[in-house]
Amino acid sequence: MTTLNAIQESIQSAVAYLRQRDGRRWRALVVLGSGLGALADEVEDAVRIPYADIPGFAPATVQGHKGQLVIGKLASVAVAVMQGRMHFYEGYPLWQVTLPVRVARLMGADTVIITNAAGGINRDFKVGDIMLISDHINLVGMAGHHPLIGPNLEAFGPRFPEMTTAYDRHLGNQAMHVARRANVLLRQGVYACVAGPSFETPAELRFLRMIGADAVGMSTVHEVIVARHAGMRVLGLSGITNVARLSPDEGEPPSHEEVMHAGVHIAPRMFAILRGVLAGGLD
Ligand code: HPA
Repeated sequence: MTTLNAIQESIQSAVAYLRQRDGRRWRALVVLGSGLGALADEVEDAVRIPYADIPGFAPATVQGHKGQLVIGKLASVAVAVMQGRMHFYEGYPLWQVTLPVRVARLMGADTVIITNAAGGINRDFKVGDIMLISDHINLVGMAGHHPLIGPNLEAFGPRFPEMTTAYDRHLGNQAMHVARRANVLLRQGVYACVAGPSFETPAELRFLRMIGADAVGMSTVHEVIVARHAGMRVLGLSGITNVARLSPDEGEPPSHEEVMHAGVHIAPRMFAILRGVLAGGLD
C-alpha cells in the first residue's frame, strides 16, 4: 500500500505545480464524464493543462476522456474543469483516482460538481435522461476497495466521515429549479457504483434494482466520498446513456460507443443545468 507520506507528497506536488502554472483560487471542481467533455471548451480565461504534465495525475486512458484540466471561469465562477477522469478499472489506486479532489480542496474549492454516464435501471428512465443523484450505493467500497482505506489524512477530515448527507440538498434543489426553468426533465435517484470494466449481467442488474439502485456506473462515488471527507459540498448528475437489459431477451447489449453517442446528445441539457447552478453563485 502507498504510504501516507507518498500520498501527501503527490498531492503537494500537484498543488505546487498548479499554483505555479496559474495562481488563481478555485471555487469549484467540475468533473465531466464520458461524452460530456465539451463543456470545458466554454471556460473563459482558460488555462489548459494536460494531466500528463501534472505530478500525481494519471493520464486518462479511456476513449472519450481527453485528460486535461481547464482552469478559468464558467458563469463567472472560478472553476477547474476535469475533461475526463481516472477510473478504478484503468488500474489506478483509489487514492490516485481521487487525488484531483484533494488538490481542488487545497486550491480553495469548497464545491465539487460531478457528472457521469450511467446505465438506467429504473424502468421509467429513458436513454438521454438526466438524473440528479440523491444518494449512492458504493458496492466497490463495500467489497473492500474504498478510497479512505489506509492511514487517515487528518488534515482533510475525520477517520469515520458520515455519508447520510453526501449529496448537498441545497445544490440539488438549485439543479431542479434550473432544470424546471430551462424546461429540462431532471429525474432523481440512487446511483450504484460497480468497478467495471465489463457491463453488468442481467442477473446483476436485477440485483441492483432489488437493492434500490436507479442507475449504475463505474465512477463518481470515490470522488464524492473523498470530497465529503474534506468537507466539500457535492452535486452529482448522471446522464443515462443506455438502459439496463434485465433479461437477455430485451433490447441490445450496451457498448462504449452507445455510451459516448448518448453522452453527446445529453451534453447540451447537462450544460444548461451546470451553467444555471454556477450562475446561482453556489451559495
Ligand atoms: N453500466 C455501468 N456503467 C455504465 C453503464 C452501464 O450500463 N453505462 C454507462 N456507464
